Amino acid sequence: MSTWWERRLDELDALEGYPVPEADELSEGKLDANENVLLPKALLVALAQRALETLDPRFYAIEEARALVRDLSRYLGIDAAHIVLGSGGDQLIDLVTRMFVDTGTRVVTIAPTYSFYRIRGALAGARVIEVPLREDFSLDLEALLRAAYGARLLFLCSPNNPTGNQFPLAEIEQLAREFSGLLVVDEAYVEFAAETALPLLARSANVVLLRTFSKAFGLAGMRLGYLLAPPRLSRIFAEKVQYPYPVNTFAVRFARLLLDAYDEVCATIEIIKREREWLRAELRALGVRAFPSQANFVLFEVGDRARALWRHLAEHGLRVKYIGEVLGHGACLRATVGSRETNRALIARIREVLG
Ligand SMILES: Cc1ncc(COP(=O)(O)O)c(C=O)c1O
Repeated sequence: MSTWWERRLDELDALEGYPVPEADELSEGKLDANENVLLPKALLVALAQRALETLDPRFYAIEEARALVRDLSRYLGIDAAHIVLGSGGDQLIDLVTRMFVDTGTRVVTIAPTYSFYRIRGALAGARVIEVPLREDFSLDLEALLRAAYGARLLFLCSPNNPTGNQFPLAEIEQLAREFSGLLVVDEAYVEFAAETALPLLARSANVVLLRTFSKAFGLAGMRLGYLLAPPRLSRIFAEKVQYPYPVNTFAVRFARLLLDAYDEVCATIEIIKREREWLRAELRALGVRAFPSQANFVLFEVGDRARALWRHLAEHGLRVKYIGEVLGHGACLRATVGSRETNRALIARIREVLG
């Protein structure tokens, strides 16, 4: 006879977990998690040292966190009442799900997309419905709204991971208008994109945006993100749902110094955007279809040889993400944009298999 908690463990064991990438030695060839390896490490080490000198880890990060919210309010040009910090976008996805979802309620998202919406929705007991994008990666608004009828949350990742495209603001606004639940727009990659859904905060009462310091700001290891929402939602989220001390002093201090050095972050973003287009052009020259991207990664279609290519790259210290078949396309790989040197090495290794 198994106990109730053993049966609960069986239930949990049957759930999908997040596939954490291989823990290889950290290197420039780690191109599987969309971290920012172009932000100069020397700059980050210098800022980390300054952060260390000016903080006292014996205390909770209360004042420091408030100061970061004020800095973000200036950086984004919006009232601080919209902003709540979290320990990474993932924590915010989890807690927003917990805030609005009960067993048996529905969560809707697109497919393919970031799998964590599905994973956390399932953990919360929701029925998760994934509505496929069209073959050109555009939104099937009609199908999405039909599936979302009566649902609590609709997660939209824009720019979308892994397809890389950003959805037009007018379509996101239409979704917000016609969906009766909350529309969560995950803008983890927005700094690499052409536009942002931020203006919707002032126009739509049911839009929540998620942002992170893990991508453009190069602080994936620091675990820092923020939520942007209508003030009442933000306040209740902060007071009743978020942990009392969700962020660590060092990460917060570090992020504030990095916001002060925003020009350097911007310069890196511009380099990544240029490298992204270089990478796509080189892939195209090899006869490989590389999809347009508004993020810091490129999705490319390999087909039957995708597994073999993935293995070949890994054997040579280049870790990309195996995505598999995407909508009507053959098996795809997703590569984070690296330095020119890394990108050249990637292209050379791809040529060895496909050239
Ligand atoms: C779309 C998307 N949202 C959120 C995250 C998680 O970000 P964080 O490191 O802030 O938890 C990722 C990480 O890959 C992502 O791709």
